[in-house]
Amino acid sequence: MTERLSRIFAEIPPCKTFADIACDHGYIACEMLYSGKCERAVVSDISEKSLEKARTLLAPYIKDGRAQSFVSDGFDNVPKTEAALIAGIGGTLMAEILKRAEREDKLPDTLVLQPMKHASKVRVFAVEIGYRIEKDFTVKAEGQFYDIIVLKKGKDKLSKEETEFGRTNITERPLAFREKMREEIGKLLSYTESETMTDKTRAIMLKKAERLKKYV
Ligand SMILES: C[S@@+](CC[C@H](N)C(=O)[O-])C[C@H]1O[C@@H](n2cnc3c(N)ncnc32)[C@H](O)[C@@H]1O
Repeated sequence: MTERLSRIFAEIPPCKTFADIACDHGYIACEMLYSGKCERAVVSDISEKSLEKARTLLAPYIKDGRAQSFVSDGFDNVPKTEAALIAGIGGTLMAEILKRAEREDKLPDTLVLQPMKHASKVRVFAVEIGYRIEKDFTVKAEGQFYDIIVLKKGKDKLSKEETEFGRTNITERPLAFREKMREEIGKLLSYTESETMTDKTRAIMLKKAERLKKYV
């Protein structure tokens, strides 16, 4: 598994049934079964070709009945599980998948999300459909920053700061988050050196860079 996948795997709690939605290769489901963290796993992907990789990897578990595979758009064709993971897709698509799962009563008690973009949108939407944010933090893996969001069914209310940056990043300031903020400030400051930039835009960027300094 890659560093990104290992960090995600570490956040999935032990459970009886686990679903990896948009699984592609199926590495996480395989590790869940191999490690005994789950008793049974479901792998699903919208692409038959992608799912074939997971089917090959999980062949022994499919044979002994501990794993099932489904071609599925989000949770559509997937039986309800105790925990589920959606990783490696954009936040807008993730929110659409969750919206349909809510309508079809497929939402699991525990949800681990790793959106590639638009994490704020995912946070807001997850709380709207009845999740509480347990952990929400940035990791650096393979030289890239990723958000990992761990949710449990329950009530929650997000502050503006938590929505923008992630709750755990605000309360614990993990190293990767601070590094991301430093990089962000550096980028903003270098943009402001452009001669073609208007004074108004420059002022907005400088203000944002100033605001981010408190997280470094
Ligand atoms: C970049 S891969 C991520 C694989 C894995 N989850 C990970 O994090 O490494 C994205 C996968 O999402 C699948 N996918 C895209 N849209 C989907 C949808 N609406 N429902 C299910 N799978 C989808 C793609 O076919 C692809 O296999």
